Amino acid sequence: MIIAPSLLAANHGQLLRDALRAERAGADWLHLDIMDGHFVPNLTFGPGVVAAIRAQTKLFLDVHLMCSKPEILLEPFAQAGASLITVHVELGDRVTPLLWKIKSLGKQAGLAINPPTNIALVEPHLKHLDLVLVMTVNPGFGGQSFIAETLPRIQRVNAWRSARRLNYRLEVDGGMDLTTAPECARAGADTIVSGTTLFSRRNLKSAIRQLRLAAHAAAAGGSTPMRHAKAPGG
Ligand code: DX5
Ligand code: ZN
Repeated sequence: MIIAPSLLAANHGQLLRDALRAERAGADWLHLDIMDGHFVPNLTFGPGVVAAIRAQTKLFLDVHLMCSKPEILLEPFAQAGASLITVHVELGDRVTPLLWKIKSLGKQAGLAINPPTNIALVEPHLKHLDLVLVMTVNPGFGGQSFIAETLPRIQRVNAWRSARRLNYRLEVDGGMDLTTAPECARAGADTIVSGTTLFSRRNLKSAIRQLRLAAHAAAAGGSTPMRHAKAPGG
């Protein structure tokens, strides 16, 4: 189980400090949300910030591009030291060349999908992917509530992976906490992005540890019930 704290929920006046805090607290990856004010109605930070973080850490940098023109951003983020770059399937015909470009830059490639988008659109790309990111909120802002209707989509992406013997990671992003992350892990997610739940806690180390343990137990067939699995009579 990989826990990827999202810097979106960190102190934006202290992004490098909070990135290093996450590393010391045991983060497996760092999730970096890049928003362009067009693909989503919010703005975050650019390759300069990613390069500053890369200069100070060996952490795996998981760059999530929520941008209308990733074509102009792949090289800058690759040079800045991204480990994996994710683009959105909503970009349509542009997805295939974008994935090839990410690979040609020597980086791992991810594909993200928003909650309202037909999940079947991901399927043709699976064999080229290192990661599938099933968004569990509509992207743009931290602190939103988990959309439970995304659970069957996670199960679907997980089933495709087993049926085709592929080994992409299955990441979930948005509204993750000690209840929802285990639900997603039971559905097949193995990579949990979390912003608010982690950075709102004073003790980041124990927050990461708790989230990892809860998700891991659920994935291993632990006792966390699925949200829709009602008890008899309930
Ligand atoms: C949402 C971003 C997420 C965000 C999650 O648009 O892609 O990575 O940081 O934040 P929380 O965990 O607060 O829902
Ligand atoms: Zn994200």
